[in-house]
This record gives sequence, structure tokens and C-alpha cells, in this order.
Amino acid sequence: MLLFYSKKPFHTRYGGQRDESPSLLDTLYLILYTCYMNKPRIFSGIQPSGNLHLGNYLGAIKNWAKLQDEYDSIFCVVDLHAITVPQDPEALKKKTIEIAKIYLAAGIDPSKCSIFIQSHVSEHTELAWILNTITKIPEMERMTQFKDKSEKLDKSKISMGLFDYPVLMAADIILYDTNLVPVGKDQMQHIELTRDLASRFNNKFGETFILPKGYTTKESANIMGLDDPTKKMSKSAKSEYNYIALTDDEETVRRKIKKAVTDSGSEIVYSDEKPALKNLINIYSLLADKKPEEIEKEYAGKGYAEFKNGLADVTIAFLEPFQKKLKEYDDEKVLEILRAGAEKVRLLATAKMEEVKKKIGFVL
Ligand code: TYM
Repeated sequence: MLLFYSKKPFHTRYGGQRDESPSLLDTLYLILYTCYMNKPRIFSGIQPSGNLHLGNYLGAIKNWAKLQDEYDSIFCVVDLHAITVPQDPEALKKKTIEIAKIYLAAGIDPSKCSIFIQSHVSEHTELAWILNTITKIPEMERMTQFKDKSEKLDKSKISMGLFDYPVLMAADIILYDTNLVPVGKDQMQHIELTRDLASRFNNKFGETFILPKGYTTKESANIMGLDDPTKKMSKSAKSEYNYIALTDDEETVRRKIKKAVTDSGSEIVYSDEKPALKNLINIYSLLADKKPEEIEKEYAGKGYAEFKNGLADVTIAFLEPFQKKLKEYDDEKVLEILRAGAEKVRLLATAKMEEVKKKIGFVL
């Protein structure tokens, strides 16, 4: 019955009518869905801006794919976050669909997970506004991502949205009673803030939100730039030699890996004293599903050139089939998946917002 109901075209009942209260059938579905799922929940998202690179894949998406069977999984294309810096409207539209295709090509299965576009569920911004009222300016000023991003901009171009971005991220997460948030290290401070805001709300208005935890692994937490192992691989890097984009072709991958900086010496060792090599071994380890020690053994007595060739081979072995899949998705089909995902999660979001509004004292 659950499956039958979930396959019904929700948008025929919900499309564009977001202020309509859920019907009795929807509420029943929600209860059954929660009981049936009975799994802890993960939520995560990626901004539709810039070129997605191996850091995004290894730091986030690969872990999502790994966790999707164990967790009730919700993955979002966070377009409301992307507009905290100026975006070209046409490019944003294209990128939003492209990110969803990347989720699918990386093995995120829409029959197990909900994939949706953030702006399709207006409760994200509604909750963010409410959380704004319990957020303190100094705790926002401490956010290192804001400091990094705003340093690169002319002061007159720093938007209120960019400053407020972590509150929207907190709303994204706690709106769905999320237990675990698989992200890279750069997002962990935002998850700490999320916990603080959730707990502050609970203390003020009564138990409402789950306090989520971040999830990452030692190898994937922080994939560093190939041109500078002291800085993370980044979408906004100035040099293309900083990253391997998920759309790079074989020639580009080989050229970039050949040019990647290495440390002094010639042995292939996994050590904090050799941060450039450690980073390359981490990438190798994640792509080949081998432990760093196995890679050390494999390349014992061999030099950097041979190791880099091997790394290029495993990178291409991942990228080629991935890119092939990426080309197979049709925009309309992907949009259908995204709309169905939004309809599914909207039930959870509206129920949570009703609870929040009641606790605050809004007249319903
Ligand atoms: P975004 O779009 O900048 O990055 C997407 C994901 O990729 C991870 N990542 C990395 N991981 C390891 N090494 C790197 N070099 C690297 N670069 C990026 C990021 O940690 C992230 O997991 N604020 C988020 C998006 C967001 C979100 C959320 C995430 C909005 N709401 C709710 C989780 C839950 C962001 O800008 O990620």
C-alpha cells in the first residue's frame, strides 16, 4: 500500500499549492513512511555553482552512495545557497540539473533516496527565518567559510545572504530530523552551529529538533589542491591545476596529475611530513578502494612517475564510466525525479514546520 501510494503523482495534488494542508491520506502516508523506514536519516547537499571536482565527489557524494542503504537518505541541490553570490540565471538552471545528474551517475538511487531541489520546498527558507531570530551575530562572524569567501570579495558585494548562509544550512538539516550529515571537513563548523541552534531552540520551546552529527572519513575529509597541498581542492581555485573536474577528459587528467606538486624525496610513503604525497595517496586509496598502506606496498621501490601514472589510471577508470552515465540522462526525466523527491520530502517539512509554529506560538 505504501509503495502504491508513494508512486502516485503527488504533484497533481500538491503542484504549486504549497500552503494547502496535508490531507488525511498524506498524514497516514507520513506515519507509515516513518515506521516503514525506521532507519536513521542522512541529509546533504551541493551548490549548483562552479565545476564539481574530485574533492566534492570523494568528500561527499561517494559517502552518500555508500550510506544510502543503511540510512533514509535525502540529497538536495542547494540552489538557494548558490545565489548567496551572483549567478547567471541561465547557467544556474543548467547547473542545477547537472548536479542532479552527477548524483545519479555517482550511484545515488532515486528509488531508495529522495533527491530534490532546495527551492522546491519553501519550508527551508521559512525555518531559516525562524532560526535567524535565535542566532547571534558574533557566532556568525566566527564562521571561517564566510571569512574566506568574503575576503575574496569587495566589501560592497558581500550580501546578507552570504553572511546568513550557515543558518539556511542549519534549517536544511534539522527540518528533516537528520541524524547524520556526510560532508567534507570545510562544512563541519556549520554542523556545529546547526547543533547549537537546534539545542537552543529545544531549550527555549521544548524538544523539537534532533541534534545532527557530521560524517566523514580520515581519507576523504579534506582533499587538497594538486597545486598546493596546504589548501583544499576548490571549485573557485584560480588555476585549473588545483583540481580534477568530474568532467575532465583523459588527456587533462594525465596532464594535471603529472603536474601535481610532490614532496622532497622519491619514496611512496603515507606520512604527515609529506602532505602532497599523502593527498595523492588519499585520492588513490578512495578511488581504488585500497588502504593507504596497500598503496605504499604496491609502490615500494618505485618512484613518483610510476605512482602518478597509477593514480592517473585509477582516476580515469572511475571518470570514464561515470561520464558515460552522465551523458545518458535526459533533462526532463531528471526533473521528474527531482519533483517527485520534493513531493516526498515536503510532507516531512510541512509536518515539522507545523510543530515549530505551534511551539513558537503562531496561530495556525
Ligand atoms: P559545497 O557545494 O561547497 O560542497 C559540496 C560538498 O563537497 C565537500 N567538499 C570537499 N570535501 C573534501 N575535500 C574537498 N576539497 C572538498 N571541497 C568540497 C563539501 O564539504 C560538501 O560536503 N554548504 C554546503 C552545501 C549545503 C549542505 C547543506 C551540506 C547546504 N546545505 C546541508 C550538507 C547539509 C556547501 O557549500 O557545499
